Amino acid sequence: SFPSGKKITVVFVIGGPGSGKGTQCAKIVSHFGFTHLSAGDLLREEVKSDTEQGTMIKNLMHEGKLVPSEIIVRLLLKAMLASGNDKFLIDGFPRNEENREAYEKIIKIEPEFVLLIDCSREEMERRILHRNQGRDDDNMETIRRRFEVFQQSTLPVIQHYEKMGKLRRVL
Ligand code: C5P
Ligand code: MG
Repeated sequence: SFPSGKKITVVFVIGGPGSGKGTQCAKIVSHFGFTHLSAGDLLREEVKSDTEQGTMIKNLMHEGKLVPSEIIVRLLLKAMLASGNDKFLIDGFPRNEENREAYEKIIKIEPEFVLLIDCSREEMERRILHRNQGRDDDNMETIRRRFEVFQQSTLPVIQHYEKMGKLRRVL
């Protein structure tokens, strides 16, 4: 894990599917020296490795479901340590309370604040259907499931950070 005594800065970036998390992060990173880690991108990388875990992740993502928290938190920790940086913008995480709890147990670095990219559902749908990134979860059926997961699982996490006074909304 991280050397103790070193101050590590973590900012989470949360938003619905297609809200522009990755796009916004790319802008912030180039200005402030953060390392941008996308939970979704780390999982897509893992899918490329032809392992049993990769196949399991691929199937869950195809269905628009969430991957077990322990897996994504381990991937995040590995990427954070490998970067050598001390400032991280983590996008697409935490997606549910289980993600948040696993992070608090394993990585333990309290986020400075949490950016919420607020975007209407129509706008998100439009963006996803126009982005052509070759993602097999960018189809109408999976998109519907991803919106449901956002409503049911991610909103409680957003409310948690709002109560803590850590939420910053970006339009
Ligand atoms: O953030 P992004 O839209 O790239 O995430 C794509 C998919 O990756 C999600 O729909 C979900 O299946 C998976 N994911 C996850 N847990 C996270 C982030 C992403 O299971 N914390
Ligand atoms: Mg993304």
